[in-house]
Amino acid sequence: MTIMTISKGPFDGQKPGTSGLRKKTRVFMEPGYLECFVQSTFNAIGGAAGKTFVVGGDGRFFNKEAIQTILKMAAANGASKAIVGQGGLLSTPAVSHLIRLGGTDGGLVLSASHNPGGVDEDFGIKYNVPNGGPAPEQVTARIFEQTQTIAQYQISDAPDVDLSALGRQQIDGLEIEIIDPVAEYVDLMSSLFDFDKIAALFSQGFTMRFDAMHAVTGPYAQVILEERLGAPAGTVINAVPSEDFGGGHPDPNPVWAKPLMDEMMSEAAPDFGAASDGDGDRNMIVGRAAYVTPSDSLAVLAANAHLAPGYANGLAGVARSMPTSAAADRVAEKLGIACFETPTGWKFFGNLLDAGKVTLCGEESAGTGSDHVREKDGLWAVLLWLNILAERQQSVAEILADHWATYGRNYYSRHDYEAVPSDAANALMQGLEARLASLPGSTWAGLTLSAADSFSYTDPVDGSVSANQGLRLTFEGGGRAVLRLSGTGTEGATLRVYLEQYAAAGGDHSLSAETALAGVRQATVEITDMQQHIGRIAPDVRT
Ligand code: G1P
Ligand code: ZN
Repeated sequence: MTIMTISKGPFDGQKPGTSGLRKKTRVFMEPGYLECFVQSTFNAIGGAAGKTFVVGGDGRFFNKEAIQTILKMAAANGASKAIVGQGGLLSTPAVSHLIRLGGTDGGLVLSASHNPGGVDEDFGIKYNVPNGGPAPEQVTARIFEQTQTIAQYQISDAPDVDLSALGRQQIDGLEIEIIDPVAEYVDLMSSLFDFDKIAALFSQGFTMRFDAMHAVTGPYAQVILEERLGAPAGTVINAVPSEDFGGGHPDPNPVWAKPLMDEMMSEAAPDFGAASDGDGDRNMIVGRAAYVTPSDSLAVLAANAHLAPGYANGLAGVARSMPTSAAADRVAEKLGIACFETPTGWKFFGNLLDAGKVTLCGEESAGTGSDHVREKDGLWAVLLWLNILAERQQSVAEILADHWATYGRNYYSRHDYEAVPSDAANALMQGLEARLASLPGSTWAGLTLSAADSFSYTDPVDGSVSANQGLRLTFEGGGRAVLRLSGTGTEGATLRVYLEQYAAAGGDHSLSAETALAGVRQATVEITDMQQHIGRIAPDVRT
């Protein structure tokens, strides 16, 4: 074992968020950088001695090298066991499941989620705690504290582990078990969903395209959809994880999954389309000529989950992040179950899931999940949709139309303004915040504001308060705009503007989102002085 000295913590000012630490890959490759985070994590949890960790990543550039470093450091720190996905691969929901299944002391996930990979792109590392979820703020704060004072790290001198060989190996006192990354996850999915019924759907000629976006879900989707459920070979495309995700952004939305969107909108569209992101926790759902917004997807899943065996007893409650549309709230109301509105970020669902207060949760940013793990889960959402389609024997478009006819439609779109100079973005937000109290009653672009506030959340389980979680503008007539600054952007500030317009059951549900949201959008542009602050009103990305 070697004890390496670090003269100065390389993390000055770099506080890991709950999605862990995200940086350019070359930063992670600097000597001591990754090591500093790993040693700080071990220190922050009272040392690694005698502990068991799950280790894996999404296969991006530097994944395998990072795993070798982590294993050697775990060994030198006295950890007793590491469970590692073959080839270094594990999806984020699979890590969460393995942590819970084995009752381990947590896991280390290597990923920058939906961000591109490569030597000049992004890399990330995140520590998950024993409940399988991302480290909560107290833990990331302790890790950060350690990075500020750390002076040395410990690493074994042992040679590299063979990540391709299933079975047990040893580094010093550390037992390393290389496992099939897919097997346990497939078992979990087959316990929740009616695989026979879905297989029967495929054997009736139901067609599907799953775009794995050259990322980690390729092997999972091939085993589940093609091998277990009998979908024809070729159902899963871009199925081999590549270090740079085929040069694209592994981000499952209509912008980055455009080839899939184009196919789904074409004459030759299959019945069902889906995609997942770099590390497998996000999802996109699209029917033939029918894109399903993540907010609508959460609502449809909540309304129909009881059709799948794993949820046959109904839902304890649902939770959505505040900027997610209120579509799920209407379902919860009808089902007579609780609905929680949390700040953006999956970590806020953890307490609600652990306390059994909610069964399903979701975010507008393409994350949906349930109490089966403590991360959002892309393939899980796809399989729940398939189970519902198999039970209802209707198309996605029919299910959506039926849903809107029952609950009304929450037209929805998120507009992102990227790489905004931080000063300008802050001035826009602060300017608006200062005027919030004076806004109700005023009219903008023909819409009258009924309420305006800054969202603050009190966790119903532990009572902790998270303030300043986004500015909300509520309009008479069912319109809403939310503004917040991204916590995950890497360049300048990313201003997110979330637009929503409700059209009641019995109303017109056939408008394009753009048309339905034009009023709320114009009012928001005017209220915020957007042009004046950031010099533009056209967003970079609309999802
Ligand atoms: C974004 C999404 C948020 C998600 C997070 C991590 O955060 O908006 O819903 O939980 O990524 O995947 P943001 O950049 O908006 O802070
Ligand atoms: Zn992700």
